[in-house]
Amino acid sequence: MAIEINPSILSSDFSDLRGELAKISTADMAHIDVMDNHFVPNLTFGPPVVERIQAISPIPLDAHLMIAEADRHAPVYAELGCASVTFHAEAAAAPVRLAREIRKLGAKASLALKPATPIEPFIDLLGEFDQILIMTVEPGFGGQKFLDVCLPKIRRTREAISASGLEIKLQVDGGVSTSTVERVVDAGADVLVAGSAVYGPEDAAAAISGLRELAAS
Ligand code: DX5
Ligand code: ZN
Repeated sequence: MAIEINPSILSSDFSDLRGELAKISTADMAHIDVMDNHFVPNLTFGPPVVERIQAISPIPLDAHLMIAEADRHAPVYAELGCASVTFHAEAAAAPVRLAREIRKLGAKASLALKPATPIEPFIDLLGEFDQILIMTVEPGFGGQKFLDVCLPKIRRTREAISASGLEIKLQVDGGVSTSTVERVVDAGADVLVAGSAVYGPEDAAAAISGLRELAAS
């Protein structure tokens, strides 16, 4: 199983998004963190900026919506052409209905869980999603320390996906770096988000291939 690497542009230079996106053209998808200063205590950008990112990105977009009232706001990101739209379980009143709407609009539907949100209530609903995102930091900021306490949840989610026999991706976001990637992959993740670990070093492409190598070892 090839591990996918989705760099988060949250750690990039927002004054040169075109240049920053070009740096990650060897990655699988560009991870776009949308924050609303309400669901999380930080603010990034919304649909108009994501529309421009979509127009110039060399790779498909993986939108991670850290926003309240996901039911109301998430579909627009599918309409804009994001290949994958992740909304938070904690912010959605009707996650199944929302996932169906996102799929109908042609995007992959992905469900994110904060560190304190269990996977168990969603086990019987797995078939409604194309991906589950397990957060390994409290959402809101890049560069935070990886929470080892989330590893058992990654394992349980992998077991549930395997038992379902469905093709559902398992994404992990938060503190993924050369020092944590092996633990994350060993627990069962197959899509890794990395912000500071890709944009921190001088050479983002080298950082991506370094993570790929460690993930495959
Ligand atoms: C955090 C965001 C992450 C963030 C990851 O709330 O969802 O995508 O950019 O940054 P690192 O990889 O530095 O932890
Ligand atoms: Zn994210």
